[in-house]
Amino acid sequence: MTDIVIAGVSRSFGTVRAVDAVDLTVAEGEFFTLLGPSGCGKTTLLRMIAGFCELDSGEIRFGEHRIDRLSAHRRDIGMVFQNYAVFPNLTVEGNVAYGLKARRIPPDEAARQVDEALALVQLAGYGERKPHELSGGQLQRVAIARALVIRPQVLLFDEPLSNLDARLRVSMRAEIRALQKSLGITAIYVTHDQEEAMSVSDRIALMNAGRLEQVGPPAEIYRHPASRFAAEFMGTTNLVKATALGLAAPVWVSLRPEALRFAEEAPAGWQRIAATVTRIEMLGPITRIDSTLANGTPIRMALLDAPHQALAAGAAVSLAFDTARLTVLP
Ligand SMILES: Nc1ncnc2c1ncn2[C@@H]1O[C@H](COP(=O)(O)OP(=O)(O)O)[C@@H](O)[C@H]1O
Ligand SMILES: [Mg+2]
Repeated sequence: MTDIVIAGVSRSFGTVRAVDAVDLTVAEGEFFTLLGPSGCGKTTLLRMIAGFCELDSGEIRFGEHRIDRLSAHRRDIGMVFQNYAVFPNLTVEGNVAYGLKARRIPPDEAARQVDEALALVQLAGYGERKPHELSGGQLQRVAIARALVIRPQVLLFDEPLSNLDARLRVSMRAEIRALQKSLGITAIYVTHDQEEAMSVSDRIALMNAGRLEQVGPPAEIYRHPASRFAAEFMGTTNLVKATALGLAAPVWVSLRPEALRFAEEAPAGWQRIAATVTRIEMLGPITRIDSTLANGTPIRMALLDAPHQALAAGAAVSLAFDTARLTVLP
């Protein structure tokens, strides 16, 4: 296979520019995530790749081969939806075989392919069951098996884990990532959850109001956000004037809470600032400590484990931060 090329793609609904001049190339075998807040155009872009939504302008290619005018079933794409879209009256087997029906695969061969797809998602032996006999996680696996059984070149996922509870989301996302890598299939994955995106993706495209805000590997977007929007969407951050941190330049910077420590526990060379504690929140593995600087600027700090000293709101403290972790924002 080949890269997926999205070139100048736009789509409006009435006056809403749902997807606005998007250019992207997804490499073969890549786990690529469209991340952004609700309404930013993720589903619309995914549906245009799948063939469920027409483009107003631009084109989509698999390598040299233009696909945006092909009907959905001729695009060699499997899609997994948020609500599973499993047929309640069919067995697991019937659901997975559904995608093969249109392709006129002989019954013996179809049965073999269904078994193979169920084994891939750890559901071997579940073929005779009905959807109501399965858990949410198992239903989502049926949906994945149904997408995989046609042996697509590309798998699309639209918020596939949002109906599952928090613990299951964490284990299923690792499962999806492992399956995608073992099959070597190209995946485009949609989520509004920054942590989920960071955990599974080779690269992320952060979207905002129909446009691409930033594209890159998770760590790069986290460490070097290109805009205020990117800095704030990719986890908690401090957006402050450099002058408030005791630095000369009058620019806005992003400083992640984990780049701060108490001065007495910080490495030599970190910049020190005086602050007053306003709130302490012990979350188990980390403790969040909110403070304000002398000029009133709020500063959030996150420490691994609890602080060594006893601490209460109102305490005057000396903080320090790693200047190498400052990102200057445009
Ligand atoms: N079929 C549609 N008709 C009208 N407006 C739509 C339709 N689909 C999406 N939109 C609008 O397009 C924008 C992007 O929607 P969507 O792609 O679903 O965003 P996301 O998946 O990021 O939440 C939203 O403002 C949404 O209301
Ligand atoms: Mg959506």
